[in-house]
Amino acid sequence: MFYTVIGTQWGDEGKGKIVDWLSSKADIVVRFQGGNNAGHTLQIEDKTYKLNLLPSGIIRGKKCIIGNGVVLDPWALDEEIQKLSDQGIKINPDNLMIAENICLILPLHKIIDELNEKNKGTEFIGTTKKGIGPAYEDKVGRRSIRLCDLQNEEILRKKISNLASFHSYRLKHFEKNIDETDLFIQLKNINKKINSYSYPTWRILNEIGKKNETILFEGAQGALLDIDFGTYPYVTSSNTTSGQIFAGSGFGIRKDHKIFGITKAYTTRVGSGPFPTELKDYMGDYLGKKGKEFGTVTKRKRRCGWFDVNLVKQSVKISGIDDVILTKLDVLDEIKEIKICVGYTVNDFKYDYLPSNENLQNNIKPIYKIFPGWQKSTFGIKKWSDLPKNAKKYVDAIQNMIETKISVISTGPERSQTIDKDNYLGSI
Ligand code: IMP
Repeated sequence: MFYTVIGTQWGDEGKGKIVDWLSSKADIVVRFQGGNNAGHTLQIEDKTYKLNLLPSGIIRGKKCIIGNGVVLDPWALDEEIQKLSDQGIKINPDNLMIAENICLILPLHKIIDELNEKNKGTEFIGTTKKGIGPAYEDKVGRRSIRLCDLQNEEILRKKISNLASFHSYRLKHFEKNIDETDLFIQLKNINKKINSYSYPTWRILNEIGKKNETILFEGAQGALLDIDFGTYPYVTSSNTTSGQIFAGSGFGIRKDHKIFGITKAYTTRVGSGPFPTELKDYMGDYLGKKGKEFGTVTKRKRRCGWFDVNLVKQSVKISGIDDVILTKLDVLDEIKEIKICVGYTVNDFKYDYLPSNENLQNNIKPIYKIFPGWQKSTFGIKKWSDLPKNAKKYVDAIQNMIETKISVISTGPERSQTIDKDNYLGSI
């Protein structure tokens, strides 16, 4: 069986707990997009593990693949491996395999990411400044240095020189330059540490696919940050929707593939860009504080707002999501009246989806439906029947409006704090 976990909003939906749960049941865990802009914190017994690039399965001793759809900062990887090894996690080429055709994030990409942001005024996209966008630009521009290029000095020198000449004009403008010899030495040195992890991972995955083993594809970020379907240009530079699973790992579409969408019971986003249901008042602050809404990677305060049906319904359809897992319901416990955005109006026209036009996006007015709160704690509840009546009504309303089953509700950070309606997660 094959499983995928995808965020249906702007990331930070609480994927970590579910990914950890599923990865404990999987034989192999695969990342297929993004890079170290992602951040998962896993709490297992009394230990806290922080992951950015490595698939979560690494903590559970599972085989892990970083697929070709990811952009790899080899120095960040080395640091992450070091930190986790210091915490007693075993990482070696038997349990970590990296696609040999993966494109690398270089120090120059981080510089460009920073310059792009500064250049546009206060904050443009509000990126994580990890060099993600510039690295993907070089990938599509057919200039990237890939992991396999580190094997051959002649090819590596040629590629470095090509990159340096491509970026020199822009960097010179900011009084920065690329020292080609230094970059060559840095890459040769890091290659000694990471090259043993390099494999044609698509072959490994296809072999495993034949053996009836369980594969988990771990999505990073969220569907609304997708380069095609997100709130462009305020997005990340990869496809975060399910289509990317296949191109980003080299594993084709199979029958027995279940796609879970992780959805927060309200909405958050970090960085700039449209956010129709954003609350800039005390309620936004309240959700932020109660939900501990601070970015894992950049520590930035997340923007908070009401649940938006249009956005989630759209994400669910684009990714072909089978079941939704609703998280952080307990954050709403004390609120008297809870709003759900059920549609938009722009200049008197009604929309039941987010139009792509930026001007329309900026002028959207949400249409809200008000739901009475339940004002009782739902924290840690394990059974659907134990939820307060109004909490059930809230969940049922979302389920009906997004036209997708909510089969699991997470009521706290622990695995036991979960309502697994049909014992689906429990039985995997
Ligand atoms: P980048 O991925 O660093 O280029 O950032 C582009 C946008 O995606 C910014 O708004 C970031 O805040 C957002 N972003 C990137 N990674 C994550 C994530 O893992 N969670 C939430 N937002 C993210």
